[in-house]
Amino acid sequence: MKNTSLTNRRKWLKNTALSSVGLVMAANAGAFAYDHPAQEPFTEQELLRLFSNENPYSPSPKVKSAMQQLLYRANRYANYHPVNPKALKEAIAKREGLKAENIVLGHGSYQVLTLIAIMYGRNKETIITPKPTFNVVGNYADHQMGANVKYIALDKNHRMDLSAMRRAMDAKTSLVFVCNPNNPTGTVIEAERLKSFCREVGKKATVLVDEAYIEYANPAKTKTMVELVQQKENVLITRTFSKMYGLAGMRIGYAMARKDIAERLDKLNGQFGQLINTLGLAAALASLEDEQFIRSSIKKNQQVMRYFCQQLDGMNLPYVPSETNFLYVQTGKAFKDFHSQLAKRKIKAIGKDSSEWSRISMATMADMKRLIKIMKGLKTK
Ligand SMILES: Cc1ncc(COP(=O)(O)O)c(C=O)c1O
Repeated sequence: MKNTSLTNRRKWLKNTALSSVGLVMAANAGAFAYDHPAQEPFTEQELLRLFSNENPYSPSPKVKSAMQQLLYRANRYANYHPVNPKALKEAIAKREGLKAENIVLGHGSYQVLTLIAIMYGRNKETIITPKPTFNVVGNYADHQMGANVKYIALDKNHRMDLSAMRRAMDAKTSLVFVCNPNNPTGTVIEAERLKSFCREVGKKATVLVDEAYIEYANPAKTKTMVELVQQKENVLITRTFSKMYGLAGMRIGYAMARKDIAERLDKLNGQFGQLINTLGLAAALASLEDEQFIRSSIKKNQQVMRYFCQQLDGMNLPYVPSETNFLYVQTGKAFKDFHSQLAKRKIKAIGKDSSEWSRISMATMADMKRLIKIMKGLKTK
């Protein structure tokens, strides 16, 4: 009689060996493609990623080398070593004129935002949030915490309507969310206006300002609200290493707040929740030192944004001027099924809110040229 378990085992070994070869090949193919993302356009076979507002440029050699140096420590938790969460908190605090006690780290700012949703929504409080926006807090507080989330439409210029948000507050309002610059519209609130809004609203509820894209914004148009944390106002600011710093895959984000708020938030992380990933910490620490990478990312983003806007002007497509690395474009004005037409050509751009508007991330110049060429060939309405 045939030994079926042995035959199955042989088959399994053969399949496993084959799939490992496949995996190695796929990994190598990936390594080839991703060794060059800073300069090379995506190949025809790859998906052109215009949906996550990532920095299209791979981390700088300095940052890569900092990660490489710590590869050997992947077996260890990130403590009792110079690269540890406290070191990153201190580096951020130093840059922002704060103390380490004002910083709460998370696995991407997404995680910090969910902790904030728990903290301010767990007693079924009211949370005010603009619409459309990057709605992690509203979603989580609404669906996971049973909070009462009030959505306030943007004004006709796609800006957050601060007056309407203030009017929507009730006795149970715990948190007012402001995304500055706003995702998906790329619009900002002028710094002095936002500061007085935060001071006023802060007497009754915490104001959360999501500054995921603040490094891209023209300082003449808006500014960080970190000064309010220094002045111990009732605000929370979230930031990320995922966008300008080019470290989306490393998942490091943080919140800044006065000590009592930061401590309450940090408690939700639990005892070991702040032991974030070692390579991410190394990368984040090195990236804070790498001003040249930031300067060059800003410059390239501006060049690409200028080119893209000029092309859209030429195509008569309306868009909202942006202070970020993405653009809110009224693609529905010209194109039918813009997203599915692009998907057939391996391009993914996000459609926010309605099929009328698309939020398109800035990629490299070569990729944006490819996008424009493709857009010119799409079926119009
Ligand atoms: C406004 C805003 N905040 C926060 C995030 C979350 O980013 P991360 O979790 O990578 O820090 C994003 C990501 O797209 C975003 O657009």
